[in-house]
Amino acid sequence: MENEKKSVVLSCIQPTAVPTLGNYLGALKNWKYMSEDYECYYAVADLHAITVRQEPAKLRKQTMEMYALLIALGLDPEKNVVFVQSHVPEHSQLSWILNCYTQFGEASRMTQFKDKSQKHADNINVGLFDYPVLMAADILLYQADFVPIGADQKQHLELSRNIADRFNQVYSPTFVVPEPFFGKVGAKVMSLQDPTKKMSKSDTNPKASIGMLDTPDMIVKKFKSAVTDSEAKVYYGDGKDGINNLMTIYSACTGLDYAAIEKEFDGKGYGDFKAAVAESVVDSLRPIQDEFNHLINDKAYLEQCAKMGSEKASYTARKTLRKVMKKVGFWQV
Ligand code: TYM
Repeated sequence: MENEKKSVVLSCIQPTAVPTLGNYLGALKNWKYMSEDYECYYAVADLHAITVRQEPAKLRKQTMEMYALLIALGLDPEKNVVFVQSHVPEHSQLSWILNCYTQFGEASRMTQFKDKSQKHADNINVGLFDYPVLMAADILLYQADFVPIGADQKQHLELSRNIADRFNQVYSPTFVVPEPFFGKVGAKVMSLQDPTKKMSKSDTNPKASIGMLDTPDMIVKKFKSAVTDSEAKVYYGDGKDGINNLMTIYSACTGLDYAAIEKEFDGKGYGDFKAAVAESVVDSLRPIQDEFNHLINDKAYLEQCAKMGSEKASYTARKTLRKVMKKVGFWQV
């Protein structure tokens, strides 16, 4: 129906490095998929990025590149709201308010905080601790119904739901309580070198992850050296973390289910399988890479899109923030 209100979708990605195949299959592919039928807000989360020390010039460059990559995915900047988080100050403002409705205990239970504190032991800043509350602000500002994310963000989304529920109960219904959205496969893409660990932008071993801008050559090489097992039989099962991961990737790129993949590679070795997985990844990334290479030279266009995105995002964000400030009891003039 023409005038039926569309469900709202929001998600963000940090501009801390070139995104990986994990980011793509776990989240960005679904962003694109949802962009046709929903009212979508997609942002580059630069405020989150500074919870870990960043080099300013590099952060600026990576933010623009990440923005270009989102447009290159095929997200139409006219139809979707594609913006940079720090361009919309309401994120920080709501985040402060939500801090006062978040318990220290529940924030302390976040496993990503514990992991990152260990990894960055010399810089366990308050922002790192507060990170999931800012995420809640990102989501709740737009009254998002669905949040397409990978499995690693599930706990943060649960916290957003708890904060929204609590606020709604203390005052009156104010926020939509968001649902996570996971794709059929790919919610957790694992490292190619240690398939018990998730594929991560920050992995120091370059062979462990595929970057979305890696050349076909690099992609083929990395899959060739992916860790598997000694059984030399392609099937999804216990103790086959490496093959399970490659099957997940192949399934997400080709749309084939595990039974069809097992059949395709029945009697073939891992060499053939790895080559096919690499080819499916190269084919999936090629159109995005081509579009990215074209867009990245058009800085004026990217700036124009980012401005338009932040204006549209601010319009919605301001409405929610004003409502919240009124409920909390701030004097508004
Ligand atoms: P970030 O930048 O680490 O990752 C972006 C998205 O990619 C997903 N992802 C993966 N999915 C499958 N397999 C993997 N190996 C993999 N690695 C990453 C993540 O789950 C995420 O969906 N805190 C968020 C950014 C954020 C956000 C938000 C997300 C800020 N505000 C509001 C949703 C809503 C983050 O650091 O994602």
